Amino acid sequence: MKKNRLWILLVVILFSLSLAACGTTAVEPAAEEPAAEAPAAEEPAAEAPAAEEPAAEEPAALTYEDLVVGFAQIGAESEWRTAETNSILAVAEELGVELKFSDAQQQQENQIAAIRSFIAQGVDVIGVAPVVESGWEPVFQEAKDAGIPIILVDRGADVPDELYTSFIGSDFVLEGENACEEMAGLLSEEGNIIELQGTVGAGPAIDRQAGFASCLEGYPNMSMLDSQSGNFTRAEGKEVMEAFLQTYGDQINGVYAHNDDMAIGAIQAIEEYGLVPGEDIKIVSVDGVKGAFEAMVDGTLNCTVECNPLLGPQFFEAALMLANGEEVPRWIKSNEGVYCQEVAAEMLPERQY
Ligand code: AHR
Repeated sequence: MKKNRLWILLVVILFSLSLAACGTTAVEPAAEEPAAEAPAAEEPAAEAPAAEEPAAEEPAALTYEDLVVGFAQIGAESEWRTAETNSILAVAEELGVELKFSDAQQQQENQIAAIRSFIAQGVDVIGVAPVVESGWEPVFQEAKDAGIPIILVDRGADVPDELYTSFIGSDFVLEGENACEEMAGLLSEEGNIIELQGTVGAGPAIDRQAGFASCLEGYPNMSMLDSQSGNFTRAEGKEVMEAFLQTYGDQINGVYAHNDDMAIGAIQAIEEYGLVPGEDIKIVSVDGVKGAFEAMVDGTLNCTVECNPLLGPQFFEAALMLANGEEVPRWIKSNEGVYCQEVAAEMLPERQY
């Protein structure tokens, strides 16, 4: 019996053990906690495209309508000067430029005062036709200090290069040389000449005299009898010629006038003296104005060396370039011819000034 009990005990133990074992496997596996996500290896943050620097805005280029220009004119001493003034006024109007124009009545101090007033008004560019070459440095320096470029129109100024941006106009020395060559042809390289100079100290007077004088050195039988200023005006040209005729009479073979207006005044003086201008006395002048072509058609003037006053288009083009910070050539040179009696009648109707 004991044996049986032992067996039963053994069976019970084994059964309990197997139940215990089954119980373990029956435990519902704990709902698996989602594995704490390993912090994702930090992707290097894709570099945010650098916030684009707003491109430094180019200021819009100025146009003619934006431009404010001051022009300090000499006066109205000659037909040529009037033509130049008209060109400046007409082109400003045509382009829509705001132009402040001053007529200095031949006085340098008035031109200087005009430039100071343009500086005070803050114009973009200043143009000036300097009545004489000297005496401009202080006021040009004031313009430079104010950041306003100066353009020399038609006449030069004796100032350091950095005080002006550009010279627009003629080669006056060449004009003097050309006048001398024409005179040499008219006088068959032999004779006495008198000279009517422009305004004392003015660029064209200085250079036209120098050009003529240097060319004359090549003609040993031609000589300069006398030379005096007629201030570029018809009235003074006539007065000076009258005085020369009183002094030299018919020794005078040729007249060289630095401009057509003085030549026209001299023609009147020669006629009143009783000589024939263009024949007894040969006459060569500079400018090429209509009055000179008319005198050539009449036979009283022999030749004129052209000096172009129609500088408005070049002036405003250069002014706009400077206002936009662009460079302009140091010398904007005019293209010019030499005209004598043979072509005068044909050319007169085409002359623009
Ligand atoms: O500066 C140009 C000169 O000035 C012209 O030849 C003359 O006629 C004007 O008055």
